[in-house]
Amino acid sequence: MTSRGVMTCRAAVVRKCREALEVEEIEVDPPKSSEVRIKMLCASICHTDILCWQGVPLPMFPRIPGHEGVGVIESVGENVTNLKVGDTVMPLYLGECGECSNCISGITNLCHKYPFNFNGLMADGTSRMSVKGERLYHHFSCSTWSEYAVIDANYAVKVDPRISLPHASFLCCGFTTGFGSTSRVVNIHKGSTVAVIGLGAVGLGAVKGAQMLGASKIIGIDINEKKHDKARFFGITEFINPEVSGKSVSELIKEATGELGVDYCFECTGVPALLNEAIEGSKVGTGTVVFIGAGVEKSGELNYIPLLCGRTVKGSIYGGVRTHTDLPSIVDKCVNKEIDLDQLITHEISLAEINKGFQYMKDPNCIKIRRRTCETNAA
Ligand SMILES: NC(=O)c1ccc[n+]([C@@H]2O[C@H](COP(=O)([O-])OP(=O)(O)OC[C@H]3O[C@@H](n4cnc5c(N)ncnc54)[C@H](O)[C@@H]3O)[C@@H](O)[C@H]2O)c1
Ligand SMILES: [Zn+2]
Ligand SMILES: [Zn+2]
Repeated sequence: MTSRGVMTCRAAVVRKCREALEVEEIEVDPPKSSEVRIKMLCASICHTDILCWQGVPLPMFPRIPGHEGVGVIESVGENVTNLKVGDTVMPLYLGECGECSNCISGITNLCHKYPFNFNGLMADGTSRMSVKGERLYHHFSCSTWSEYAVIDANYAVKVDPRISLPHASFLCCGFTTGFGSTSRVVNIHKGSTVAVIGLGAVGLGAVKGAQMLGASKIIGIDINEKKHDKARFFGITEFINPEVSGKSVSELIKEATGELGVDYCFECTGVPALLNEAIEGSKVGTGTVVFIGAGVEKSGELNYIPLLCGRTVKGSIYGGVRTHTDLPSIVDKCVNKEIDLDQLITHEISLAEINKGFQYMKDPNCIKIRRRTCETNAA
């Protein structure tokens, strides 16, 4: 039931902004009453981990990165009733109380009681991780690049043990964010036209979601030609590389849609200049744009006139996916092979090779990097 006390384990630590990470021996506290401690079996890297390493949105160091991973519960606090030791779980950065006004609305995944936590600490304002008495910040609520992590039980979702560990890990952020955005942030209708700007794990998730919802045209846009084949696999009907033509992204989208623009445009790069391009590439009067990407550069001004012309802009955190209500059905789709996440794996590293992993993120072929040590989901 409860834990065996403070544990010592290894974790990747960002000591200073943009500097090489250290793999250090750290102490992980036992879970408090509503928390669980998880033995991490697998982890993967999301582009947002790189942003946090760059001190965005807040420079909090030393910090343990990672918000994609899957593990097995090692111990639980005395008030935890929904999970038990031995359960395989995904530690997530959003919770879902089911009772607050946002949860009751059914519209959003941003719960008031269990929010997206930027401050690197648990809800009580403290950390569960330290090195010789020095406090370590969590990454959101997760820190999956540690061998053990503590999280509030509401942020952990039990997963079907039939899903492979890397697949469960990928579903903790990037792919699900894109995939969920197509049905939970907007609801793509059959026959609609879609553009996805940026074909990393997030963009490929949006492409797959659009395909499964019956979009008739899915335009994939990326400056990296190597994304073309992968994006075809996930469902694009055409690929555009704006750097080849020298034209703007919105011009290219219009060219591909008889000058109309698309019904839905997903911005998945985090490049601020593309926000206006996404708006202008969507249909006058009815087009909807979903902002997903996050970047180090501050976003510039949004062009007012194209917005006045009847377009809608929406923001998406984790694709609007409610962690308890919606995530299990996405896991099912992976178990049933409707979604093949193997296609995302491009690199493998061990925990000790975390710096190599951050380097791999710059490789044009790179989509997802998984931690090598976790071949099975046995505890
Ligand atoms: N809102 C959320 O909840 C959420 C969740 C996960 C990731 N993100 C953000 O989403 C973005 C995408 O994440 P990812 O993991 O897929 O990243 P990624 O780096 O793997 O993919 C980004 C893609 O955009 C392409 N790209 C870059 N500049 C471009 C340009 N000017 N024109 C066209 N294509 C361009 C890149 O070649 C790459 O293929 C990041 O900014 C990340 O921080 C947001
Ligand atoms: Zn709630
Ligand atoms: Zn992420």
